[in-house]
Formats: sequence, C-alpha cells, structure tokens
Amino acid sequence: MKTIHFIGGARPNFIKIAPLIKIFDKERLFNSLFINTGQHYDKALSENIIKDLNLRKPDLNLGIGSGSHIYQISEVMIKYERILLRGKPDLVVVFGDVNSTIAAALAAKKNGIKVAHVEAGLRCYDDNLPEEVNRRLTDSISDILFTPSKNENLNLKKENITKNVFFVGNIMIDSLVSFFKKNNVKPNFSNIDGLITLHRPENVDEKSKFESILKNLEKWTKKYRILFPIHPRTKKNIIKFKLLKRLKKINNLNLVSPLSYSEFLIQLKDSKFIITDSGGIQEEASFLGRPCFTLRKNTERPVTIKMGSNKLVKLSDINTLLNKELKTKMKKIPKWDGQTAERIFEILKIYLSTLKL
Ligand code: UD1
Repeated sequence: MKTIHFIGGARPNFIKIAPLIKIFDKERLFNSLFINTGQHYDKALSENIIKDLNLRKPDLNLGIGSGSHIYQISEVMIKYERILLRGKPDLVVVFGDVNSTIAAALAAKKNGIKVAHVEAGLRCYDDNLPEEVNRRLTDSISDILFTPSKNENLNLKKENITKNVFFVGNIMIDSLVSFFKKNNVKPNFSNIDGLITLHRPENVDEKSKFESILKNLEKWTKKYRILFPIHPRTKKNIIKFKLLKRLKKINNLNLVSPLSYSEFLIQLKDSKFIITDSGGIQEEASFLGRPCFTLRKNTERPVTIKMGSNKLVKLSDINTLLNKELKTKMKKIPKWDGQTAERIFEILKIYLSTLKL
C-alpha cells in the first residue's frame, strides 16, 4: 500500500485537512499519516479545533512551537526530515501558506518525495506578508496543485506552472458545509451584532496601529455590540502595549478567548457583519453572505470580492460602511460546494496509481 503524509501546523490547516483525511480513512486505499508540526500549540488553536472538526488525533507531533520564521521553518524541516528518513512516503500533502507548509514541502522535495499542495495559486503580490513567500515557494516545488478558484490557475500560469494544476474548489468550505449539515445550534453569545478578529503583524504588532483600532472600536460600539475573540499573538501584544485595561472598558465590546471552530461559525452566521484580517474568514463570510470588512491593503482571495461579500477597507472607511444597510445573502461561488475533498481524492487516486512503488 502506498503511504501519504498529511501535514498541518496551524489552526487554518486543520480545517483544510479534516475533509480530506476523512475520505482517505474511509476509502482505506492508502496508508495515511497525519503529522502536526505543533506550530500552534495553544489548546484553542490546535487540540480543540482538531476535536471540534471530528478529525482523528495526529499520529505525530513535531512540537516546534513559536519563534522566528527562520526558526519555525528550519525546525520543521529538521524534525520532519528525521521522520522521512525512518520511512519515505509516496506523497506529502501540504495545505495553505503557513510556515509549516513550505517547510514540510521543501523537506519532502529534497528527499525526492512528491508534494501535493492544497490551496495553491493564491497571490496578493506583496512580499511583506510572510505567507506570500510561503505560497510562491511551495507552489514552485509542488508536483500536483489544487486551486480553490479559477483565478489561481491564471496566477500559476503567469509563473509557468501549468502541469498537474487542478481547479477543485475550496476545501475550507467542505468543513463549513459539513458542520452546518449536522448542526443548527444557537449562538453562545446572543445579542451580538458583529465580530472582529485580528492577528496579522501589520495590524497588531505596532502600538500606534493598535491604538487606532482601539479608538475605532470605541466608535463602532456606540451603535453595535461586537464580539472580539483574541488570537494569542494579539493578546500578547495588547498586554505588552498596556492597552488591555482600556480595551476591557469599552461598552458593548465582548472580549473573549479564541472561539472553537463550531462556536465561531455559529457566531459568524448569526452576525450582521465581520471585521477581520484573516484569509479564511473572508471565504467563510463570503460563502455565508455576511458583509466582511477586511482590514488589509490586498487580498490573495479576490474571488471573495468579485463574487462574495468581502471588501478591502481602511480603518477610517469602516464607520461609514457600518452605517449603511448591511445585506446578508448566501453566495454561490463555483465549486465552493462541500465536494472539494472528494474531487481531490479522485485526482490523487489516479495520480498515485501512476507513481512507481
Ligand atoms: C499563523 C500563520 C498565518 C495564519 C495564522 C492563523 C505563518 C507565517 N502565519 O500566524 O498565516 O493566518 O497562523 O492563526 O505561518 N502564539 C501563541 N500560541 C500559539 C500560537 C502562537 O501564543 O499556539 C503566539 C506566539 O507569541 C507566536 C505568535 O502568536 O510567536 C505568532 O504565532 P505564529 O505561529 O508565528 O503565527 P500566527 O500569527 O499564529
């Protein structure tokens, strides 16, 4: 039997891995090993989300934790290579664009193992975002690439990557669809109008920027009750900037620890709007048709603007936008239908049959 490794390390990876591993486990045509790099180690960002997704426990945890990008990437490479040397798989599947993604892909490639990249071709053409470099490098060494929308095939074509590129749809939406098929739960935080999540260095690593966000939060909450689940990176900075007290004082702002995956989806579906800098949330909000205000200069997910409910905004725009009518409607984006993992599985089955044992 051929062996496949599925690599995940950070919260958004697990959401993308779950639907695919479940199919591989059900079909039992291959041996599969689920490896957690441990990039995210807080319970809320790893263990709980894995449970919440009904994903089986990782077979191995490399336990790399936090550190500089170079630390994270090199540590995953060294530790993962040790695993590879014990027994080489036929294929390594990596997801998204986090440091663990490029690190595992490169370690595999350098050991002569084929690499599949799920969520390939995303580009924002801004190297200031650490993920952009990860995306480009991962795609450049991948042997088989799965894209969430047609736009990503065009991006790859511009870089002369045309072989084994498959437009399969958005695998994150598989997890969302499967969640709402089974659950129709009421939100834990009722009477909330909107949600805010922030974790990108450009928004939360500088005191002055975060102070402006705080001032705006004071303004927005005059009209809306907002729930703010705080990412550990953001929390650490708020404490460092000595802004926690002021944040806690804001009326109508509900400050909470990161929500579980299911809790978050329920709140998102229940809210009138979301303000975020996350990539995945732009997609989930678009699918659910919730107005999404993305606090970034660019996005690697333009389909969420063209066909979804996403808008790139500056801090100063948000107040005006929040005073307009906030429409909500489920959006139809091609192949965002809950069947992406199935499509990937069928393609990989054929691809793996062409690889020699
Ligand atoms: C990472 C990904 C980002 C993804 C995000 C989702 C990269 C370059 N970035 O960003 O693409 O959108 O995950 O959450 O891979 N920390 C904790 N506990 C944890 C994890 C992190 O306290 O479990 C704190 C640490 O201070 C750490 C900081 O957050 O230094 C940043 O963590 P890191 O994994 O480097 O990146 P994220 O900001 O989480």
